[in-house]
This record gives sequence, C-alpha cells and structure tokens, in this order.
Amino acid sequence: MSSIAVIGTQWGDEGKGKIVDLLSDRADYVVRFQGGNNAGHTMVINGESIISHLVPSGIIQGKRCIIGNGVVVDPSVLLEEMDYLEKKGIDVSPEKLSISEKAHIIFPYHKMLDNARENSAGDKKIGTTGRGIGPCYEDKASRKGIRFAEFLEDQIFREMLKINIEEKTKILTHVFSYNETPDFDKIYKTYSEYAKRLKPYVKNISADLGQALKKDSKILFEGAQGTHLDIDHGTYPFVTSSNTVSGNICCGSGIGPKAIQEVLGIAKAYTTRVGAGPFPTELLDETGDYIQKKGAEFGATTGRKRRCGWIDTVVLNNAVRLNSVTGLVLTKLDVLGGIKQLKICTSYKIGNEITPYFPALVQNAALAVPQYETIEGWNEDISKIRKFDNFPQTTIRYIRRIEEICETEVKIASVGPGREETIEIKPLFR
Ligand code: GDP
Ligand code: IMO
Ligand code: MG
Repeated sequence: MSSIAVIGTQWGDEGKGKIVDLLSDRADYVVRFQGGNNAGHTMVINGESIISHLVPSGIIQGKRCIIGNGVVVDPSVLLEEMDYLEKKGIDVSPEKLSISEKAHIIFPYHKMLDNARENSAGDKKIGTTGRGIGPCYEDKASRKGIRFAEFLEDQIFREMLKINIEEKTKILTHVFSYNETPDFDKIYKTYSEYAKRLKPYVKNISADLGQALKKDSKILFEGAQGTHLDIDHGTYPFVTSSNTVSGNICCGSGIGPKAIQEVLGIAKAYTTRVGAGPFPTELLDETGDYIQKKGAEFGATTGRKRRCGWIDTVVLNNAVRLNSVTGLVLTKLDVLGGIKQLKICTSYKIGNEITPYFPALVQNAALAVPQYETIEGWNEDISKIRKFDNFPQTTIRYIRRIEEICETEVKIASVGPGREETIEIKPLFR
C-alpha cells in the first residue's frame, strides 16, 4: 500500500497540477476527491500547456483516473474536457477514467444561484469562479442534490429535477429577482444526453480503491484549491464550499485514514490569491507587480489577475498542521530571481498582540501586520538548474530557512512550468 496526497497549502494555484503530472509516471491511480471545475490545473509538457478542470491530471501519463464522490461534476464541462483531451490523443475511455456514482452533479440553476448571490452581495462578494460550486454543495448538504446514481435512473432523475427546478425558480425569482430561470424541458433533454454518454464511466469508486489498496497499487490523491480556501479551516467566508485539507480525502473518495502515507504540501515560493478575502502579505507595490508579471499570475479558470505577496509561514505552518504534511514542494522559485531582498513572514501583529496563528475572524486578519525576516535574494536565472547543489547559496538559504520555520523538509523544488524543470530532492514513490 502506497499513496501520496498532493495538497495546496495557500489559496490555490500553487502548482498542484504540475506536481501530480510529474509523480503520475510512477502511480497507478490518480484521484480527485473534492471541488469541481473551479479548479484549473496546468501541466506543461514539451512546451505545450494543458489545463484540466475536472479530469485528474494523471490522465496525461495514461494512468487510471478517478473522480471521487466528494467532487461536484458539471457534466457539460467534463464532456468538453474529455473531447479536448481525446483530440490531443489522450485516452479517456472508461478503462482510464471513472466517476463515483455518489458524486453530485452541477446543473444550470447552480450557476444561476452562484451568480445571483454574488451580484446581490455588493462589496461583500466572495469573487467565486461562478461555476455553481457553492450552490451544488448546498444542495448536497440540504439533501436535495442529484448524484450520478439518481441521474442514471431516468424516472428518479426526472422527478428530482422537477422538484429542484420548482424550488430554485422560486428562490431566483422571489429572493434575487434574477433575470433568468431554469427551463425544465431544456435541461432534462440536454442532461439526458449527458447521462447516456457518461453512464459507462460511473462506478463504485470506494470498492475499486479498496481493491487497488489490497493489491499494493500506488495512488496519488490530487487536491484542488488550497488549505486557506477550506470551508472549515480557511479564511471563512472567503473560501470555497468543500474541505480542501487532506482529511477530506477519506470522505471524498471512500477510503480510510490509514491509506494515506505521504502528504505533500505544495507552496509557491511566494503567495498568490485570486478572488476576495484577507491576504496579510499581499504586495500592492512594484515588487507585487514584478512577481505578478514574471510569474504570469493569471487564474487558470477565470483568467483573473492573481494578487501576489511574500511567502507566509503563518499560512504554511497552518497547512503543515492541518494536513499532516510530510514534505513541502516549493514551486516558482525561478520567479523570485532578480529581487534583492526577500521577505519571509513569520507571525502577525494584530493590535498589540503577536501571533503565529491565522485569526478566525476575517476582520482581524484584515488588521494583521506581517512580521518579516529579511533574507538575501539571488540574481541568477535558476530555471536551468537540475541539481539542488547547483543552486546559488542564497536560494539554498531561502529553502533551508523555510524548512526550519515549518519544521518540514522541502522534497521537491520547481524552477519552471515544464515537467523537466523540477528538482526532486527526496525520492517519492521510488
Ligand atoms: P494548480 O491549480 O495548483 O495546479 O496551479 P495552476 O496551474 O492554476 O497555476 C500554477 C501556474 O504556475 C501554472 O501556470 C503552471 O504552469 C505554473 N508553474 C508551476 N510551477 C512553476 C514553476 O516552478 N515556475 C514557473 N515559472 N511556473 C510554474
Ligand atoms: P485550483 O485547484 C484558486 C477561489 C475563488 C474564490 C473562492 C470561492 O486551481 O487551485 P468558488 O467558485 O470555489 O465558490 O470560489 O475560491 N478558488 C480558487 N482560487 N485556485 C482554485 O483552484 C480555486 N477554486 C476556487 O477565486 O475566491
Ligand atoms: Mg489553479
């Protein structure tokens, strides 16, 4: 039995897709367990960029990919993505891809509700991806949701869809005065087509994973979003609607806690955030602009500019504890080249108090003044380096200092978007 979880430590977009793709060559299964097509995971292979939103990133390396029950699935996006991958010559047949019969489905009314809520929130809006993620999880919790199990039974699906559309129409019309309402016939017809196409992919995932674990298969769990977007542990209410931490791997894929051996916490060498919410180390100056431009920091799903700032070990330490991180992966180290002095946040000052912990109240997080250590940067282009010992001493000192503060080894260093632009410091799955 051998499994590795790949988890975002910050606010998403840490480079999880690249690391999952890298480690997939030695895995048998790659499993998504939460989130939906709010995620955008980028892999760059031989200079070509592939972005996946729903299909696990292991598909590129021809591995068996699983969409677990904790994922919310927009079938139109999934089918589009499957077509896109197929056109690139990637096998997305039911031998390679399966979907849990217990995964919930995103309908057009979820997207309408997502947008209606955001539009009516004014300056309190979360800046969601508008993909209907939150309303779909709301339906799951209020026991109105439609899962693949129901979706594939025409009579059951029809009945549940009717009830949902009646309810959502009332909310959209009377609560939000929204300019659009869902059309039963249209949705029923299109979704029935989706059901036909997706039926061969739908399975009892927990049973499959149980067998795989018995056979000693290697399993990679691909997290989406990041620890600070977790619905319980993130910067609530500026979070997503699922648990993004490693503990949710069990619930979201149907395995037990003993089946996870290694948890890789993916961290950018700086910090980014897309959407609203507190971000203590955000840089609203030319250094922030430099990082944003050099790091090409635009959201892979919505194309929005990402907010940029210094690395924050309050955030990283939180993630190490919450996820049982056994190793860190530092990505985008190349982007920091050319900055004379780098800063590492080690605690916050809130009022007269210094704290090493992220406050629960966003109003307090907004007041947090980061306490920094300054460390010498490097001017060299490190993107061609492939051996840890060949890094400039300044880069090594930066990495070692993060390891020290987080009391966790850095197991992989990434110096470019490409699969090969990676330094594996410690062996994984080997
Ligand atoms: P994910 O959501 O965590 O998979 O991350 P995204 O794909 O949304 O965003 C990460 C971006 O950084 C992508 O465009 C990657 O191609 C890119 N990237 C990943 N690692 C590195 C790196 O080490 N250096 C540089 N320059 N880009 C990287
Ligand atoms: P990956 O997997 C970065 C953010 C949105 C918004 C908040 C809630 O690529 O790292 P939602 O649509 O989930 O209700 O939006 O969460 N968000 C992400 N930010 N990376 C992601 O995924 C994200 N998925 C959601 O911007 O602030
Ligand atoms: Mg992303």
